[in-house]
Amino acid sequence: MKLLIINGPNLNLLGSREPGTYGTRSFEEYLESLRKAYRDIELEYFQSNIEGEIIDAIHKAGKNIHGIILNAGAYTHTSVAIGDAVAAIATPVVEVHISNVFAREEFRQISHISAKCAGSISGFGLKGYRLAVESLLLNS
Ligand code: DQA
Repeated sequence: MKLLIINGPNLNLLGSREPGTYGTRSFEEYLESLRKAYRDIELEYFQSNIEGEIIDAIHKAGKNIHGIILNAGAYTHTSVAIGDAVAAIATPVVEVHISNVFAREEFRQISHISAKCAGSISGFGLKGYRLAVESLLLNS
C-alpha cells in the first residue's frame, strides 16, 4: 500500500514555527517514526509552499497512490483550486490539521477542502497524521 502525505505552506518550518501552536518536533523526524511504525506501507512525502505544485501532486497521486493525507496549511482557508483538485480524483483524501482550527481565528474555521475529503482530523498535533494513516487502513 502506498500513501502520500502532502504538507502545504510553512509546514517545512515545523519544529521552529510557533512552537506553542505546532510543537517542537520537525516533520522529518516525525515522519521517520511514522515510517518505522508502518514498515509495510510506502509512505511518500511532499511539501510545497506553492499552491500549483500541491495541485499537481494531488493530480499525480490520483493515478498511483492508494490514499492521500493532506495538510494544506493556510491554503485550506483560501484555495478553491485545491478543493477542486481533491474533488477531481477518486483517491481518498484525509485532511489533517495539527492545531484545532476550530479553537482559533474565525477565518481558520472555513475550509475549501473538508467537504471534498473522506474525513478531517484537527487538533491532535502531529499524531493526527498517524490517525489519518489508520483511517485509510481501515478503509482499505
Ligand atoms: C494548519 C492550520 C492552518 O490554519 C495554518 O495556516 C497552518 C497549519 C495546522 O496544521 O494546524 O499552516 O493547517
